[in-house]
Amino acid sequence: MTKNRSENPNTSRRDATYTLGRTSHETTRLIEQSRIYGESTHRLCKRAGIIKGMRVLEIGSGAGDVTLTLAELVGPTGQVVGVDINADILDTARQRAADAGLRNTEFIAGDARNLDFSDQFDAIVGRFVLMYMAEPTKAFAKLMTHVKRGGIVAFQEPEYTLYPAIQHPRTPLMNQLITWILDVFAHSGAHLDMGIGLHKTFVDAGLPPPTMHLESPIGAAKTWAGYRYMATIFQSLLPLLEKYNLATAEEVGVDTLAARIRQEVDTSKRPFFLPPHITAYSTRRS
Ligand SMILES: C[S@@+](CC[C@H](N)C(=O)[O-])C[C@H]1O[C@@H](n2cnc3c(N)ncnc32)[C@H](O)[C@@H]1O
Repeated sequence: MTKNRSENPNTSRRDATYTLGRTSHETTRLIEQSRIYGESTHRLCKRAGIIKGMRVLEIGSGAGDVTLTLAELVGPTGQVVGVDINADILDTARQRAADAGLRNTEFIAGDARNLDFSDQFDAIVGRFVLMYMAEPTKAFAKLMTHVKRGGIVAFQEPEYTLYPAIQHPRTPLMNQLITWILDVFAHSGAHLDMGIGLHKTFVDAGLPPPTMHLESPIGAAKTWAGYRYMATIFQSLLPLLEKYNLATAEEVGVDTLAARIRQEVDTSKRPFFLPPHITAYSTRRS
């Protein structure tokens, strides 16, 4: 049983503006995102030790992509509880779980930092969510109270500070996109270094240093889905890019963006990098 308390002591400082918005386009983008990052999330969950029969809490479950992966791993004897602060997106998540014939998922609308559960979970998982929280370390420590001793903790977060390293004189478009992404996330208050920050977040909460991997989807094939995915990122970012006076719709040119990136890959002979991210897992000892 769960209860969503009305007060949240963790939100005294401001959370980041959710940079990518809450439109139906954003829901579609999350599903596309999973086609790109899903494999590494699946690998993270497997490496971390999520197996059949486990009861897993997933925070920031969005359109349910990580939930679907977890539901498959825990099987019909396990359970996945997804929590998201955006109640609307959970309708999509519930529908997708129903379409997949899953009976082992439950979705709760609310702030993940603000829930009570009568039983602890075997594992807690989150993807691309801590970066938006005002005080991720404090939030994380609170989330750990929902995990059993010996339970699994597995998170995946972007590491934007590494992204400029691949800028190059032959790729002006990619350079510009990276600059815009870093600027808009920084203006929104999101943590650009949440991926590397996972180490400190885990150890400050009393967990053993996590096992970590750095991953970055890279593509150069004409048919690679990453070009179009980057355009969908910019479609979601555009309202804030304009609000913060960082770029205009005309400058971004969402409609032609995927084709222009592909063209630049062709002419520069340099592959295109999507934002790097870091996976981290450990177990709760005490
Ligand atoms: C970038 S999306 C990622 C969604 C999903 N984890 C995935 O990877 O497909 C981040 C999600 O976290 C949710 N979120 C942000 N802060 C939250 C909080 N404090 N509690 C619960 N959900 C939160 C947002 O509403 C959004 O759906």
